[in-house]
Amino acid sequence: TALPDVLSLIQPTADLHIGNYFGAVANWVKLQDTHSCVFGIADMHAITMPYNPADLRTNTRNMVIDLLACGIDPEKSTLFIQSLVPEHCELCWILSSQCSYGELSRMTQFKDKSNKLQSESADEYVSAGLFTYPILQAADILAYRPTSVPVGKDQEQHLELSRSIARRFNQRFDTDFFPEPKALYTKTPRIMSLAQPTSKMSKSAGLKHYIGLFEEEKSIRKKVKSAVTDTGEKDPAVYMSPGVQNLFEILWACEAQEVADQLESDYKADQLKYSELKGAVADTLVELTDQFRQRRDELLADSDHVDAQVRAMSEKARQIAAETVKGVRKLAGF
Ligand code: ADP
Ligand code: NA
Repeated sequence: TALPDVLSLIQPTADLHIGNYFGAVANWVKLQDTHSCVFGIADMHAITMPYNPADLRTNTRNMVIDLLACGIDPEKSTLFIQSLVPEHCELCWILSSQCSYGELSRMTQFKDKSNKLQSESADEYVSAGLFTYPILQAADILAYRPTSVPVGKDQEQHLELSRSIARRFNQRFDTDFFPEPKALYTKTPRIMSLAQPTSKMSKSAGLKHYIGLFEEEKSIRKKVKSAVTDTGEKDPAVYMSPGVQNLFEILWACEAQEVADQLESDYKADQLKYSELKGAVADTLVELTDQFRQRRDELLADSDHVDAQVRAMSEKARQIAAETVKGVRKLAGF
């Protein structure tokens, strides 16, 4: 089996928002045309924080449908569910002995997440899984020995750890078995909350802060209409206020270049009406997401087929991972 160029995983969440789409999924859809890609849904990562098993199962299943609706194409890419490929866990255990405790202790995401968990709920514990999460992530990647991994700033440190684990494994066992996966930097926008444009769009802040990728047209229009902008008085210190900037950011992300250029020149000439900007953003978002909603309805109507399809793709992914584990076992002395 051929090794892929690109490997990337995303955690299952209920309902993607447009931030997830422009910040991650849209990039995957594009990469399919130029690279051989393996994409995974990281359900085993989702258990490191307090969670509900029934929700996890539903979210994972829906995530498959959502990603397919967004344009992940089984004809081009392999989309798998992490828990259907148990080789990730075996590899994780072996790799955990190629990673130093000190290295793992320096992961900033662990510090952030464990601090947050402890400050929010006194009776929750910080799981060992949350601590060793970056090793499972290294296994997720190295199981497929890809050339590149698309990363954003927040995942840089974890990819660096995966590279370091690969390097140590190769040195220890005197091999070049693992290529060091390269970071594939792609410029992705950071979409901000509509109600509070100084913080990033996220579901945890509440309904009025984000636009779901499959939200109804009426609701999209309503949310865009009430998006926070500014009083119209320009602050000479910034080109645009955060709220206005964010609305343009969405137009750019939708590749509505002509509309955006026109509105931007109005803005420069002090002639932009925010109601017009909002109308354009709403129209563009509705047009983009309409195809996703339609496609998702079709997939939901045939969800047995989708289940079978993702199982087959996970089996395909498993063949690659199993080949890697076979090689690793031999080198590691089993
Ligand atoms: P995170 O913990 O970064 O919010 P999520 O699971 O919520 O992760 O998001 C999944 C993917 O979507 C990640 O690649 C993340 O960087 C991206 N993402 C999340 N929110 C935004 C946003 N507001 N703008 C751009 N990208 C985003
Ligand atoms: Na989030």
